[in-house]
Amino acid sequence: MPIVPATPANIQKAAFLLRSGQLVAFPTETVYGLGGDATDDRAVAAIFAAKGRPSFNPLIVHLPDVAGVAHLAQWDARAERLAGCFWPGPLTLVLPRRSDSPVSLLASAGLDSIAVRIPAHPVALALLLATGRPIAAPSANPSGRVSPTNARHVADGLTGTLAMILDGGPCPVGVESTVLDLTGETPTLLRPGGIPRETLEKELGPVALAKASDLGGPRSPGMLSSHYAPGLPVRLDARSARLGEALLGFGPAEGAQMNLSERGDLTEAAANLFAMLRALDRSPFTGIAVMPIPDHDLGAAINDRLRRAAAPRGQR
Ligand code: TXA
Ligand code: MG
Repeated sequence: MPIVPATPANIQKAAFLLRSGQLVAFPTETVYGLGGDATDDRAVAAIFAAKGRPSFNPLIVHLPDVAGVAHLAQWDARAERLAGCFWPGPLTLVLPRRSDSPVSLLASAGLDSIAVRIPAHPVALALLLATGRPIAAPSANPSGRVSPTNARHVADGLTGTLAMILDGGPCPVGVESTVLDLTGETPTLLRPGGIPRETLEKELGPVALAKASDLGGPRSPGMLSSHYAPGLPVRLDARSARLGEALLGFGPAEGAQMNLSERGDLTEAAANLFAMLRALDRSPFTGIAVMPIPDHDLGAAINDRLRRAAAPRGQR
């Protein structure tokens, strides 16, 4: 599976591959995406197959501009305002699907809503413009495993199913986009992510949290309790490592194998999270102990991913 640098020529090649129904992994500011033409049922089916993902999990559709989004989804004043503030960027909006939307029904798993976002990464934007189609792209990892934040992670996880991996270096944000449901009257947070809830509330007023009854349901399967999981067991809120464990630190941490952010910076910690979980997921360690992370701002997304990484594996 070729990893190639994201040069203008390779971006053009990738766009050609996407238009011919093949899959391409590409960098976004959050994590690497496993992209396919969202209007092509077979390409979308190939994405599910490559991830080993239950096919009821709907995908995020990526576009380079708001005009493109308005062709696929019903646009309202709230969406307009959020797009003005946060796009391009790590925010996904779930909107009512337009009845004439050309996007594969499989991409939104037969729901009457559609998840859309304009990513802020220059390579992603160049690829979307060159392709000229909406691109469905989940994180480029096998279902249930840690998301990839560099090109090597993608190649390590997915085997033999990709036409190309565009290497744009490490992802600057490091956790996935915030997923906000705007299909109802009250905006509802389906997945904490790169844009903190606090930041959204400054623009929008109160944002509800998804009800427990939505957990694991088809509404946002990214909320399945065990997800983003390394192979080794993960223990949270650890002050120190037990015998055999690797310690993943935050802030001053003596004896930590790795540190998400020595200076206690949540943005830096988010960017390091998945790469460090991967790096510690190996023998001779028998588990990964993670020090406490404050639960505000990007800490909410980090703790969400860590709780899922630590959840009993039967629930994946
Ligand atoms: O940062 C990101 O969002 C990355 C990059 C590649 O853009 N993508 C990503 O995709 O994380 P994925 O497929 O791993 O996660 C998509 C999330 C899931 O939690 C899914 O349930 C939710 O978005 N979602 C997608 N469509 C939805 C819909 N119509 N209604 C509710 N939730 C939806
Ligand atoms: Mg994912």
